Amino acid sequence: MIQIIRSRISSDAGVQGVFRNMERETVMRTKWITKVYAMGKTDVRALRGIDLTVERGKMITIVGASGSGKSTLMNIIGCLDYPTSSTYFLDAVHVEGLSRNRLDDEPLGNLDTKTSVEVLSLFQELYDQGMTIPMITHEADVADCTERITELRDGKIILDKHIKNRRSAKPELYAELQISA
Ligand SMILES: Nc1ncnc2c1ncn2[C@@H]1O[C@H](COP(=O)(O)OP(=O)(O)OP(=O)(O)O)[C@@H](O)[C@H]1O
Ligand SMILES: [Mg+2]
Repeated sequence: MIQIIRSRISSDAGVQGVFRNMERETVMRTKWITKVYAMGKTDVRALRGIDLTVERGKMITIVGASGSGKSTLMNIIGCLDYPTSSTYFLDAVHVEGLSRNRLDDEPLGNLDTKTSVEVLSLFQELYDQGMTIPMITHEADVADCTERITELRDGKIILDKHIKNRRSAKPELYAELQISA
């Protein structure tokens, strides 16, 4: 996978770089997303009104305790699941359908340290070239490597923090691989 991403990075680098400088518009906007799972006679209110706007070319992490609604939100913004109610625009298109492709919403979830630092470093390269990257993490040091941290609790956004000086994963990667920059 890492090789595939690397070749994609080199082939797209110029285009993405220009793209990033030219375009800073909204790539995704949600208005009051709610999701209720019916569990027998009980309703689980997984999302209780999420308003989220992401600009093109941003790297955003969604954090929060287990059960706070991260996967539910990512599935909806990734068009893998329906919200109970919402307005959702992706690239200015009103989203109503679903895709069959399913992606892992915690890309670093079960990886060892070396691999997760390498994948994170690749995500940072993609981000630097203009790609919009939303992901979930439970690790504060991973979140600090992104540009924006959105924290959920009980299906609501409780914190939306923009990071001025995001950490680079590269030094850790170089240290891990025992090579010099
Ligand atoms: N398919 C489902 N049916 C019923 N309830 C669900 C379903 N999926 C999630 N839930 C409930 O919705 C709430 C949010 O779950 P979600 O999986 O989005 O949380 P999460 O933040 O991703 O948690 P984790 O960190 O453990 O992955 C939880 O109360 C969960 O039990
Ligand atoms: Mg989850």
